[in-house]
Amino acid sequence: MPVLVITGTGTEVGKTVVTAAVAATALAAGRSVAVLKAAQTGVRPDEPGDAAEVARLAGPVTTAEIARYPEPLAPATAARRAGRAPVHPHEVAEAAAKLATEHDLVLVEGAGGLLVRFDAAGGTLADAARLLSAPVLVVAPAGLGTLNTTELTARELRCRGLDLAGIVIGSWPAVPDLAARCNLADLPDVAGAPLLGSVPAGAGGLSPADFRASAPHWLAPRLDGTWDAEAFRVREAPRAS
Ligand SMILES: Nc1ncnc2c1ncn2[C@@H]1O[C@H](COP(=O)(O)OP(=O)(O)OP(=O)(O)O)[C@@H](O)[C@H]1O
Ligand SMILES: [Mg+2]
Repeated sequence: MPVLVITGTGTEVGKTVVTAAVAATALAAGRSVAVLKAAQTGVRPDEPGDAAEVARLAGPVTTAEIARYPEPLAPATAARRAGRAPVHPHEVAEAAAKLATEHDLVLVEGAGGLLVRFDAAGGTLADAARLLSAPVLVVAPAGLGTLNTTELTARELRCRGLDLAGIVIGSWPAVPDLAARCNLADLPDVAGAPLLGSVPAGAGGLSPADFRASAPHWLAPRLDGTWDAEAFRVREAPRAS
């Protein structure tokens, strides 16, 4: 699995934190890692973007960004309003493929959800994943509403013939409500793919040392970690009523 595309059910669901956890876990397993943020929006030229946040949390990874645009908008819109060239899916695929020649694992983080547009022709991260024949990891929220957006994302991936590697919960609450606990059984069912991890809420605020030590415990063996989906579900699941 040299390239893994990381998308989410939407923006602010924890893609960057999950990307950092995957990177930290791969580094702990002795693999070299590159992180490619396809298009970074909403940050000034001198501000750290998502790739820098991954490096801060995870450690020594190669970071790359194809373009950044100042306004916090979909990349196609942000590029148009900035009067700048957009990022095309083939550029994302080419950049990731080049990084894959020099690293054991390349993590490609999209912007927002799967169908957020990168260019005026409607190109998306899904097109880049297709060009790369890369598996896609979907980051999903824990609570109410996540079953619908996760299933929509999984269906779109399947329609496009893409490989949905699995789902990672971006932020698992310290005190999960009934919906979150029930979703542990329902998320893999609606996605037709396994739960591959759960990152605790607040993980992004840990010290880098604590983040790196803990990350392998949040992710399943498929992602080089030790997280056991079934044991987690049994521990957190509600009693039948
Ligand atoms: N497990 C977590 N622990 C701590 N903070 C989190 C966690 N998950 C998400 N957050 C916080 O929620 C916000 C959104 O998370 P994040 O930046 O990872 O989302 P994203 O899906 O990458 O968004 P974008 O589409 O902008 O790239 C951030 O402020 C982040 O610090
Ligand atoms: Mg992000």
